[in-house]
Amino acid sequence: STVDWEEAEYDTAGHAHFLIKEITEQPAAVERTLSGRIDERFATAHLGGLNMDAREARAFRRVKILGCGSAYYAGEMGAQLVEELARIPAHAEPASEFRYRNPVIEADTLYIAVSQSGETYDTLAAVQEVKRKGGRVLGVVNTVGSAIARECDGGVYLHAGPEISVASTKAFVSTVVAFALIALHLGRVHDLSPADGARIAAGLKALPGQIREVLEQEKEIAALAAKYARHEGMMFVGRVRGWPVAREGAQKLKEISYVHAEAYPASELKHGPLALISPELPTVAIVPDDELLEKNLTTMGEIRARRGQVLMVGHTRPEAKFTEDVILVPRNEPELDPILLTVPLQLLAYHAAVALERDVDKPRNLAKSVTVE
Ligand code: AGP
Repeated sequence: STVDWEEAEYDTAGHAHFLIKEITEQPAAVERTLSGRIDERFATAHLGGLNMDAREARAFRRVKILGCGSAYYAGEMGAQLVEELARIPAHAEPASEFRYRNPVIEADTLYIAVSQSGETYDTLAAVQEVKRKGGRVLGVVNTVGSAIARECDGGVYLHAGPEISVASTKAFVSTVVAFALIALHLGRVHDLSPADGARIAAGLKALPGQIREVLEQEKEIAALAAKYARHEGMMFVGRVRGWPVAREGAQKLKEISYVHAEAYPASELKHGPLALISPELPTVAIVPDDELLEKNLTTMGEIRARRGQVLMVGHTRPEAKFTEDVILVPRNEPELDPILLTVPLQLLAYHAAVALERDVDKPRNLAKSVTVE
């Protein structure tokens, strides 16, 4: 594969770890992902690499997103964005499952493969399976010229810069931004109004500054991480837009701190996992100020009634009876809020790993890119 990144980027540049360097680089990474891609005049996204005209883009009836691990969770956020903005049914699936289940490949489905490295074997095999059956695959890839990028029919490069730490952070956020651009583009060839297109474009442009605002809370989040890292496990819950945020938050925590973490849709707690709630198992609740706020507060109340601690990540501080610990993030457009809600969970996982003296950049048993089956 050909990589044209500067040698200087392979250095922690004064940071304690690559991971915190990469978390800190996110505003610049997002700026690069957006650069030259917002078309103000038509309130849409300009993505020349998709290699498809408006007529072709309109013809797809479904979108299927494939990736592994965090790339899959970013794909779940992408699926929600495509459904919300373009009103095309969209689903994400682990590429590793897809490739082993003899999937039905449909001509009117647009397949999108997601990979930071562009070398993940299961994702590459999924792309090859789709192509062998005549399907069209786009790539959302960070590494230019990588195996997956070469195999795809077109796509969007993230331009997030090299990601060295095993845990994905800036590539994750840039991937969701790339999906917002794809969803904006698909939306504007369908029924998304110019006004809504302009609203999303403005929201995207506000992201780098708002990510910086979240990063400014690093000290407070580090203190919360030190408090919660001492527990044997943590639960992460969210509803709809908050649900992939919870999944990615749990993934990050377990991957680098080795603290057991489970993610559940908040509405599923009472169907089983509520039995786990106790003072020993704190919950991170993803609670944006959207139409589901009241439902989420009810869930937090149920957790508190079982003497579970709650750390809320959201937009507004609730009454003290719901939780003592709150991390507030700036509000963007509701469709883009998951991006900003994810950033404090990266800092939480990072500082939990530091507090527990883990090998932050090279967690045990893991490789940066899994090029074997
Ligand atoms: C992310 O923190 C993980 N290290 C892992 O889940 C990763 O996202 C996955 O292996 C996919 O990698 P890729 O994006 O390079 O394909």
